[in-house]
Amino acid sequence: MLEQAVASIQSFISNINLERKLLLLCLPALGVGCGLYSWLLHPLLCGRLRHVPGPWQSNCSSLFLAFHEIAYRRNDKIAQWHKQYGPVVRIAPNEVSVASLQDTREVYGSRHRWPKSGYFDNFMEYGARSVFATRSYEAHQAKRRLTSSFYQASNIYRFPELERHIQERSLAALHHVQQNLGQETDVYSLADWYALDNITFLVLGPEHCTRCINQDCYERRLLQDLKYQQFAGPLRIRFPQTLKYASRFLAKCSRRQFGFLVADNELASWCQSRFHNAIDDPRLTRTHSLLRHLCDSEAATDESGPGLDKKTIDLQYIAAEVLDNINAAEATVAVTATYLVWRLTESPHWQRRIRGELSRLPVQKDGALAFAHIDHHVPSLEACLREVYRLHPASSGRAERVVPPGGRVMSGFYLPENTIVTASVKALHHDENVYPDSNLFAPERWLEIDEQAWKLRDAQLIPFGHGARICLGKALATMEIKLFVAALYRKYETIKTSSLSAESMRQCSTHDAVPEGLKCMVRFQLVEHPSDSISASV
Ligand code: HEM
Repeated sequence: MLEQAVASIQSFISNINLERKLLLLCLPALGVGCGLYSWLLHPLLCGRLRHVPGPWQSNCSSLFLAFHEIAYRRNDKIAQWHKQYGPVVRIAPNEVSVASLQDTREVYGSRHRWPKSGYFDNFMEYGARSVFATRSYEAHQAKRRLTSSFYQASNIYRFPELERHIQERSLAALHHVQQNLGQETDVYSLADWYALDNITFLVLGPEHCTRCINQDCYERRLLQDLKYQQFAGPLRIRFPQTLKYASRFLAKCSRRQFGFLVADNELASWCQSRFHNAIDDPRLTRTHSLLRHLCDSEAATDESGPGLDKKTIDLQYIAAEVLDNINAAEATVAVTATYLVWRLTESPHWQRRIRGELSRLPVQKDGALAFAHIDHHVPSLEACLREVYRLHPASSGRAERVVPPGGRVMSGFYLPENTIVTASVKALHHDENVYPDSNLFAPERWLEIDEQAWKLRDAQLIPFGHGARICLGKALATMEIKLFVAALYRKYETIKTSSLSAESMRQCSTHDAVPEGLKCMVRFQLVEHPSDSISASV
């Protein structure tokens, strides 16, 4: 059969004349030439960002960047390019990264109204856009007004039930540690359960929140699957439809092996069911929850007339906001708390110093330390947290914005309208002029300096973003992380285990910037005389 086919091709070729044979040979060469021109030569000569410095491949295709995304090293690579090429770097044919404070302010500042990029379409939930996923400046401002007063520090810090709840969850975490004393504890899982318990309390109210720390439950498995799903993130962003169908198919074939690929859908269904239970519960009106706050805002808007488009604040929108806030708060707080425990485990003298400062605080009737005291009178904890925010910012690094009509000039380079621009948080946080020996975990850089140097460092520390769309949860995150770490280190010290290493804790450029090993195994040990550490110094 094959021989026959070969023979007939041979006889066809021998029957055509020389000119046609040459033409036949030229066709593939022409194809390759056209391909080279359109994929290589044309972008190199005429690419809209060819005047911006950057690796030459980035002028031709975004596949070059995709390669680093799939290796989960996008942020590291971009920071490295900034060292090589300067404060403005072309990272893809229509994408630029900036690494100066001035350009960062221009991109994210309230004055300039840059919209978000199409990347944020990936974060729509139930067909609606939360504050985070809203792209245009004006629509975003209208939605943000609905939630910003709720998340303001003045509201979060003056809400005694919330502090009591977080304190109680910290004690539950402590109890978990006590029960597993002598064994290795995965702090990342513990922090994850803690963060989910807290955000569901704040968003859905006390009757419908989770209690993951207390016992093994469905939500614990869900959180674990969400962590694994991070690694499918780059492909999901590049090929959303293909991955959606492939994930569903694989999960159907083997739930046990591939169930993690549909963890986001499971979270959305789980959240929808909790949302409906909470909204139908008459006790909702007595809670201080985000859900109640949003429902009240909707009622107020109805009365006040056309201020906001009624269609935007329907139940679908509220459900999307609730899910997005749970997503945003759970992963980021868990990752930050985990890196803080890891860094303290590597630096026992900072543990002692924090414990010493904690032991000087007045103890409340219930045996706990008040957050206001921890926040204002434990400078070592504040300094260590700042270093963790600097070295391990818990976000994707893809706060993409789009250049408005007319284009803009950034550090001397003209960027035409519709160019996608992102500030490289990693490059800003490793600026040697502002943070000398920037790779070192050095909390003292926040303690032993004059006010002017402190202000300079503070201005460039942007783990929560910058400007008009700065993170709404900063006050909540700070409260949760400080209470968690204070509860643990007041009584315990953490000791390194053999499975904990710089490699396992390498921070990946995934959406939640997770540690590569997805675990942080430490051993807790009771401190014999906590007050001994009062005089401990670095
Ligand atoms: C250490 C913890 C956290 C970090 C590092 C963090 C980081 C960020 C960053 C970088 C942004 C800006 C994204 C952009 O500009 O595109 C953001 C936005 C946001 N974060 Fe957080 N976040 C944290 C905790 C929280 C918590 C606890 C909540 C609670 C609900 C939260 C809710 C939000 C919301 C709603 C937005 C969107 C704000 C807007 O677009 O106006 N975050 N976060």
